Amino acid sequence: MPSFATSPGTRDILAPDSARWRQFQQVFADVVETAGFAHIIPPMFEDLGVFLRVGESTEIVTKEMYDFEDKGGRRVALRPEQTASVCRAYVEHRPVTPWKVWYAGPNFRYEKPQQGRYRQFDQVGVEVLGVDDPQLDAEVIALAMEFYRRLGLVGVQLSLNSLGDSGDRDRYAAALRVHFSSHIDALSGESRVTLERNPLRVLDSKRPEDGALIAAAPRMADHLSDAAAAHFVAVQSSLRDAGVAFVVDDRLVRGLDYYRRTTFEFVSTSLTAAHTAIGGGGRYDGLVADLGGPDTPGIGFALGLDRTLLACDAEGVFGAPLSRVEVFVVDATGGGEAGLICGQLRAAGIGADRAYEQRSMKAQMKSADRSGAPLCIIIGDDERTGNTAILRTMEGGSQQTVQRDDLVMQVRRALGR
Ligand code: HAM
Repeated sequence: MPSFATSPGTRDILAPDSARWRQFQQVFADVVETAGFAHIIPPMFEDLGVFLRVGESTEIVTKEMYDFEDKGGRRVALRPEQTASVCRAYVEHRPVTPWKVWYAGPNFRYEKPQQGRYRQFDQVGVEVLGVDDPQLDAEVIALAMEFYRRLGLVGVQLSLNSLGDSGDRDRYAAALRVHFSSHIDALSGESRVTLERNPLRVLDSKRPEDGALIAAAPRMADHLSDAAAAHFVAVQSSLRDAGVAFVVDDRLVRGLDYYRRTTFEFVSTSLTAAHTAIGGGGRYDGLVADLGGPDTPGIGFALGLDRTLLACDAEGVFGAPLSRVEVFVVDATGGGEAGLICGQLRAAGIGADRAYEQRSMKAQMKSADRSGAPLCIIIGDDERTGNTAILRTMEGGSQQTVQRDDLVMQVRRALGR
């Protein structure tokens, strides 16, 4: 028989990590719902055209898309991100603005798998449509920082840039093209290819031979329109008012084409591996119109769950939640009593588990240990006939005999509830 394993770049998330993932999403939901965001669940695949708006020259589109023709002959793709889907949903449903939504879930990119980079990866994120106010930019960024704070992360650096309005961006791209083309011999082979597709992305090159040319390249700040420059100044001042620390990095271009004006990235200073960007976002004021809707400003961010948890590991924070099993029932009389007691405890809202197959007392005690439950209940022949139970604390091993009728109350007391 063939045996199977997960595809490259995908993983099974097993306990206790799976509980940690859920907790991660729950903390995020708490933070953003308190700020007025409503949950949206976009589909995991949709018309390829939606995702082409992410940028025809981006690697996400040219190399990494999971696209295929379905049985009805439609060209669809697994979502590589969710911003485009949210904008498509906005155009489709025309909700009242400001439309503030949050999401959580997997995305798919055919990338080279390595630690912190997967083909299926999870994000949590927010998007706000219909507001063109720099105070919102600062508020959205502050929300992400608040989430990191709730996780307990301290090593998060916020980099900020403005890519200007679409005209500014195009003028800047042209200036970069002239600059790099006039020194083309000094540019790495990879960056020459990138230059053809998207001059801004050359600024992302980490190749040593490109370093000097990048340092000497024209600066975005000199190509901003007055309106975009004023917006950027106002965002920075609102961030300062909110006490959010940041560094302006005018080489920050990000890997998606739809960004206009404010762009930002969160980098973990605790991660040493290549993938230290744990989240990012920005304004995408032209995207809704690109998807056939009215001119609508938009801003948002997405935070990578997988990478952020690696950062949590590196900082020793936000560990996996404890087991929900509070009591393990050891039954040496055949298992029927364990079934009854578990039912009683669970109905009272107390986490309870048991062993099966009439295992030996020793084996059941081992399972009790492994369950992580702080308490165990032991039923032997004496307890069954006497209608009692032994209630034992796993740590320390102190135990008492209690009446079966009082069992739930005694368990509650022992759990401090
Ligand atoms: P992004 O920078 O492509 O932006 O992804 C955001 C975050 O998702 C990254 O910082 C990273 O932590 C995580 N991520 C991306 N690709 C992978 C991967 N292959 N494996 C593991 N983690 C990954 C966006 O997706 C935009 N939609 C963000 C946004 C929302 N902009 C405006 N609104």
